[in-house]
Amino acid sequence: EMLSPQQQILKGRRVLVTSGPTHEPIDPVRFIANRSSGKQGHAIAAAARAAGAEVVLVSGPAEVADPQGVRTLHVESARDMMAAVEENLPVDCAIFAAAVADWRVADASDQKIKKDAGGAPTLHLVENPDILASIARHHTLRPRLVVGFAAETEQVVAHAKAKRERKGCDWIVANDVSPATGIMGGDLNTVHLVSAAGVEDWPSASKAEVARRLVARIAAALGEAGR
Ligand code: CTP
Ligand code: CA
Repeated sequence: EMLSPQQQILKGRRVLVTSGPTHEPIDPVRFIANRSSGKQGHAIAAAARAAGAEVVLVSGPAEVADPQGVRTLHVESARDMMAAVEENLPVDCAIFAAAVADWRVADASDQKIKKDAGGAPTLHLVENPDILASIARHHTLRPRLVVGFAAETEQVVAHAKAKRERKGCDWIVANDVSPATGIMGGDLNTVHLVSAAGVEDWPSASKAEVARRLVARIAAALGEAGR
């Protein structure tokens, strides 16, 4: 649902969001992936749209439906996601909520690997491109505001602070995804917003509410300039 005109806080802004997992093929029937429903990333895309932004969502194979009114580009692998992101710059703000597979199989098989081919196969993995870091350090097309996520199972804030510096992004939205929290795949999220200014602990809320809050912060950071 669209907000009333005075709540169109992202009107005239272009926003790009990545969401969902990536799938890295082993062979035509098997893949490597992270756990990710896509709920939080899709909720952010929907909230940005509701706030009047022009939104591009680059999504891996997520469990949730495409948000209404959002141009959604469907990709499978990290390399496809990287290409789709680059093709859709420039934007005012990019939010990297996807759970990108860190590695892919170097020599994915064109044919289904058979069990009888001499024991368990050894997979040779190579590192995928870091989409967030590469866009945050882009020489010509860096968005004004670059937001990453950090899903951690321990030392959440410490890891998120280190990640923010390492990747060169402005903000990191960090959350504890250890199994006991039930956050993975669920509808609630408890996040910390890590920026140069410090760390804010946000109250536990629905993923939709976290998305609205993040969008409000993004609108404030982008301000009135450039309209
Ligand atoms: N990310 C990305 N491309 C990758 C890996 C991660 O764009 N190849 C983005 C994610 O979308 C997220 C942020 O980087 O916004 C952090 O991802 P995370 O997996 O937590 O960080 P890594 O640097 O991969 O570190 P690790 O998995 O070892 O914790
Ligand atoms: Ca990772």
